[in-house]
Amino acid sequence: MSEKPPVCSYEGSDYQTSFWEKGGRAYEDACEVIALKRLMPTQGKLLLELGAGAGRNTPRYTGYERIVLLDYSRTQLEQAQAALGQDERYIYVTADAYCLPFVEGLFDGATMIRTLHHMADARLVLEQVRSVLQQNAVFILEFANKQNIKAIIRYLLRKQSWSPFSPEPVEFAALNFDFHPATVRSWLQLAKFTVERQLTVSHFRIGFIKKIVPLKILVWLDSMAQLTGEAWQLSPSVFTRNRAVGASSMAVPGSFFKCPACGNPLEDTPPRLVCSKCGQIYPVKDGIYEFRLDVLNSK
Ligand SMILES: C[S@@+](CC[C@H](N)C(=O)[O-])C[C@H]1O[C@@H](n2cnc3c(N)ncnc32)[C@H](O)[C@@H]1O
Repeated sequence: MSEKPPVCSYEGSDYQTSFWEKGGRAYEDACEVIALKRLMPTQGKLLLELGAGAGRNTPRYTGYERIVLLDYSRTQLEQAQAALGQDERYIYVTADAYCLPFVEGLFDGATMIRTLHHMADARLVLEQVRSVLQQNAVFILEFANKQNIKAIIRYLLRKQSWSPFSPEPVEFAALNFDFHPATVRSWLQLAKFTVERQLTVSHFRIGFIKKIVPLKILVWLDSMAQLTGEAWQLSPSVFTRNRAVGASSMAVPGSFFKCPACGNPLEDTPPRLVCSKCGQIYPVKDGIYEFRLDVLNSK
């Protein structure tokens, strides 16, 4: 894919309220808490949260000294600011995950939860993530699994045309992709990650089961079933813990941002950062750094 891939916009979306708070997703949320506890390192310095949205998971990353919440949507980050309150630990950045505005080897950790499924060129994003990580950094990646039990049954009953077993992603709605676990693992390896651990998550994401089985029991059952993720992956969601391997440059102390237009390191000079090489200006408004080139250049 040579052109910049399209972005699934959440600008102005009430996703956090409509999907999570009022959408009957207590089961999925509780299962994700367990998976994150099992996978996250207990301590770290600087974490990059890609597709942070309204910050639903951010308070769960307790071991990290500082966290960069990165999202394409400014309004999602405004919701995160409102939810998380004033806290120097958090740095808010609007940017496109395909074109990250950070110097190489900056972070010792990254997470990407419920975000890869919006990526038309997932491999490119994984390469971008690897470039801003230090050697041995941990990367927690969640992805939507096309090879899940429901899809397999539907395929066998001929109620679904696409095969859950084939390696290519399936775009089941515009800019919404399910991936084959083996394909994601191969992309991670090509991007210089080793897959250390896999958990299968949200096995019982089926309306009538969620209605009849008490939440606590269902979450406990899922927490047990998560452990089968190393052997097979048949759940709708898969969490992986990956380790950055191979040679990596280490960010020079004091450096942080780089110009996403030309790659030149930027001085952190709010209320605006100016690239000394190409002249591109990046505003910092109400505590949010703005690095979306398509938005800035259309003004
Ligand atoms: C389904 S939400 C998940 C939010 C959060 N991770 C959670 O689990 O609650 C996906 C998020 O990815 C962001 N996103 C989608 N494409 C992006 C891109 N190319 N660059 C950065 N963020 C992106 C959206 O704006 C949205 O906030």
